[in-house]
Amino acid sequence: MKRPQAIAITSGKGGVGKTNLSVNLALALQRNSKNVAVFDADLALANAHLVLGCRASRTIVDAISGRCAVQDVLVSGPSGLKLIAGGSGLAELMSLSDDKRQSIISSISSIAPQIDYLIVDTAAGVEDNVIDFVAACDRVIVVVVGEPTAFVDAYASIKVLHQETGRTQFDIVVNRATNDTQGIQIFQRFQAIVIKFLPVALHHIGSIPNDERLGRAVSKCEPVIDSFPDAPASKAILSIAQVVLASPPPVVDEGAVGFFRPFYDRDVAAEEAMS
Ligand SMILES: Nc1ncnc2c1ncn2[C@@H]1O[C@H](COP(=O)(O)OP(=O)(O)OP(=O)(O)O)[C@@H](O)[C@H]1O
Ligand SMILES: [Mg+2]
Repeated sequence: MKRPQAIAITSGKGGVGKTNLSVNLALALQRNSKNVAVFDADLALANAHLVLGCRASRTIVDAISGRCAVQDVLVSGPSGLKLIAGGSGLAELMSLSDDKRQSIISSISSIAPQIDYLIVDTAAGVEDNVIDFVAACDRVIVVVVGEPTAFVDAYASIKVLHQETGRTQFDIVVNRATNDTQGIQIFQRFQAIVIKFLPVALHHIGSIPNDERLGRAVSKCEPVIDSFPDAPASKAILSIAQVVLASPPPVVDEGAVGFFRPFYDRDVAAEEAMS
């Protein structure tokens, strides 16, 4: 059995477009005949359900408290996309113990047989929740915008994620660019700063233009690729989905705890034992 791929979408600065990329990328992958779940890992300030336009009747809080299994908190979204919704305004979600976080990761691994991709929409910054959820993913997409403050914060995030998780490969999406050329220029400026000081590699997997239709879709509680499929932002996200579909995940330390790595290890061990 093929193991699912877990993709973290993160950023240094808040409000740069992670949730919109997460939800629309997930939907685009789902429409490419993949089974996809979004985990709203911005646990205390969750809003992916709003961007997706579904009612979060159950959330990860029900699973954390033991009221039900993760299987039972899966909310159905458009086109059969699944959502594990986060909580809202619960302080205890911001300061979870390491054990609690690891138990969330291992309980989410139980949905592996149902999905091909898990998109993990993290909070901004480098709090422990972000570091552990990113560490548990196979690849990480950092969303940057072309402002000096966003550069500083994105640099700091990559530095901490590299130091704390040993990760050396980062995918970059430039959001709110004027056009593709400016997106490439922003990426190159950011890359020049990062590789000067950190032993990591950045891969530019696409730019999303500033597009007022994305804001209008958010106001309607609809994913932009549904509301305005021909909008430049939608087309950009659809082409990022093609890049994701075409590229294998970077190899990560299989010894580390991951959403699906233990599952993978068990499978490989079983296959090896049978051969
Ligand atoms: N490409 C874009 N064009 C126009 N507006 C955008 C674009 N991307 C994001 N926005 C605006 O920025 C807002 C914030 O986006 P989003 O919620 O996806 O960011 P976030 O990084 O998840 O924020 P947070 O850090 O608070 O979780 C959106 O509601 C939308 O109004
Ligand atoms: Mg968000």
